[in-house]
Amino acid sequence: MRGSKESVAIIGGGIIGLGIGWQLAKSGCSVTIFERDRAGRAASWAAAGMLAPISEVHFEERELLELGSISLRLYPEWVRELEVDSQMCVGYRREGTLIVGVDRDDAGLLRHFYDSQRLLGLKAEWLTGAEARNIEPLLSPQISGAISCADDHQVDNRLMVSALIAAFRKAGGTLCENTPITKIEMQKGRARGVRIKDRLHKAGVIVLAAGCWSSDIEGLPDSIVPPVRPVKGQMLALQMESEIAPQKVIRTPRAKYNTNAYLVPKANGRLILGATSEEMGFDTQLTAGGLFELLRSAWEALPGIYDLPILETWAGLRPGSRDNAPILGRTCVENLIMATGHYRNGILLTPVTAREISSLILTGVPTEVIAPFPLSRFQASDNGSA
Ligand code: FAD
Ligand code: GLY
Repeated sequence: MRGSKESVAIIGGGIIGLGIGWQLAKSGCSVTIFERDRAGRAASWAAAGMLAPISEVHFEERELLELGSISLRLYPEWVRELEVDSQMCVGYRREGTLIVGVDRDDAGLLRHFYDSQRLLGLKAEWLTGAEARNIEPLLSPQISGAISCADDHQVDNRLMVSALIAAFRKAGGTLCENTPITKIEMQKGRARGVRIKDRLHKAGVIVLAAGCWSSDIEGLPDSIVPPVRPVKGQMLALQMESEIAPQKVIRTPRAKYNTNAYLVPKANGRLILGATSEEMGFDTQLTAGGLFELLRSAWEALPGIYDLPILETWAGLRPGSRDNAPILGRTCVENLIMATGHYRNGILLTPVTAREISSLILTGVPTEVIAPFPLSRFQASDNGSA
């Protein structure tokens, strides 16, 4: 694939496909996004919208932390451009995150996490329980300590999806909803196009951005079926009075329950509570146990949620890869590009994915930023399963 303004077909109208499509359409490419359902209604709708490279990272995932940090830095300009293009607000907020410990075990867990953050040179501040309550008075008096991550931000992912759809269309892109792609048609080692029922849509470049369904599309040689699997997350939304709602995202990792719930305040007093992390295939049923675990963790950190009305419950499927990092860039099929496997961080990683993948398509040159995330890192032991 040389750099080109050839026609581009994107499989998947989630936040990743829409973000790439918008950037390419703005650059003058002819882009069609194929979405089998309604655009942006899968994982991208289910998410909490945290932009949290610091509080979601594991110590060993340094390349992912770097990618997340780059994307976070792109966010202010990304939001500005998207809000101008779409004429919509996407609810970008910068109040930061408090990671709180409820009992002594949690405080030990937090200390370990805090030490790791400091070793990585990340901006994090240790707070006593009283200091944390001064910042968020709804926190339980039991809170034993907290970490403040001022640089973790958030966005309203549902608003961002709607804004991307509007901006993509305004830039001249074509969005085909309710249009499942059944197959990628190959010819002489190149992708010719995508099959929709009995019709072939030809394209110069094809981007596979179908979230946790990315390994289900026929036609790919076995060696480049991406090892992506669904990881279920149950969520619920509570209604608070907006004047007293927390300002910061609150995370409450509990050592004794082995859970890691979070509360994310949105506009108008909507408070999102998430999320379970379950290996249940494509099942999206809500369970009493899943919601109970979330409510118990949240109630122990913020007892005042007890009386709040429940607005909504839902479950979504994260596209998880084997090493939790996305799969980005070229494959051995020259004109087939991967943008999948964003797992717990797809909302955070949308700007960097859109910028790097559209630049790869336009210039033909991959950048250092996505170099650590090729599909080929899995191929030594790969048989195509996640
Ligand atoms: P999706 O949004 O799943 O989109 C893929 C699309 O492809 C779907 O719309 C699907 O219908 C379509 N598709 C599939 N197969 C085909 C086909 N054959 N033809 C046409 N279309 C097809 N990330 C964060 O950064 N911050 C968070 O706070 C956060 N919280 C989360 C909480 C939960 C409960 C979950 C589930 C996820 C969360 N994530 C979060 C992760 C984030 O939501 C995902 O990484 C991101 O949405 C992935 O975007 P995507 O476009 O790749 O996938
Ligand atoms: N990033 C939050 C989640 O995946 O639940």
